[in-house]
Amino acid sequence: MARDVIIALDFPTRVETLTFLDRFPGGEKPFVKIGMELYYAEGPSIVREIKARGHRIFLDLKLHDIPNTVKRAMSVLSGLDVDMVNLHAAGGSSMMKAALEGLTRPDGSRPLLIAVTQLTSTGADTLKNELLIDTPMAETVLSYAKNAAASGLDGVVCSPLEAALVKERCEDRFCTVTPGVRFAGGDAGDQKRVMTPEKAGQSGCDYVVMGRPITQAADPVEAYRRAVREFSGA
Ligand code: C5P
Repeated sequence: MARDVIIALDFPTRVETLTFLDRFPGGEKPFVKIGMELYYAEGPSIVREIKARGHRIFLDLKLHDIPNTVKRAMSVLSGLDVDMVNLHAAGGSSMMKAALEGLTRPDGSRPLLIAVTQLTSTGADTLKNELLIDTPMAETVLSYAKNAAASGLDGVVCSPLEAALVKERCEDRFCTVTPGVRFAGGDAGDQKRVMTPEKAGQSGCDYVVMGRPITQAADPVEAYRRAVREFSGA
């Protein structure tokens, strides 16, 4: 299982994104995440441009719709040659299986397909009083993870605090992608449940997603290298 630090490119424009990536020396090509903000602003061309620069890309669009619509949308995303895409596990197993079919290219290759379990911004109150789910958060996340694994998906997005449980209870090939990672003593921002890269590495997270601790750092390249060092336990 590959393990890596993924930088969330949460920038509003192509120019700001490329200015950020230009700070890295020629041979250094971090795995990056393109989310809704940048994708909706710049469209598929920004994905092609960053791919052409040699980066691996996690396209974080969190699809959630009827199975046929998601299948067709995934088939389009597959043509963008990204490395990882995602959807909401709440869409159910028929949607997840349809997504997998749509994503698989004629030669059998496909990007990794990851399911969002419960958003890390969803608290216990919302789960119980708005979503009407009485099961505790960790069990809910685990149940969504098991549905995703049974549907053939490659892993889940979850909080680093749930990663160990998912790793323990799902097959080894099933990976965890975890945002909410902060350097020791760093600003948590709006993330409520955070963990350091070092602890995330020890807790069984396969990929950690870090945005502001790297993108807003005085020296983003050094911040990225520090995250990689700490995550890998070097
Ligand atoms: O800046 P920060 O490190 O908090 O960025 C985390 C990234 O991970 C953001 O792009 C955010 O949208 C994403 N994310 C998250 N929580 C989730 C799913 C995605 O923070 N549950």
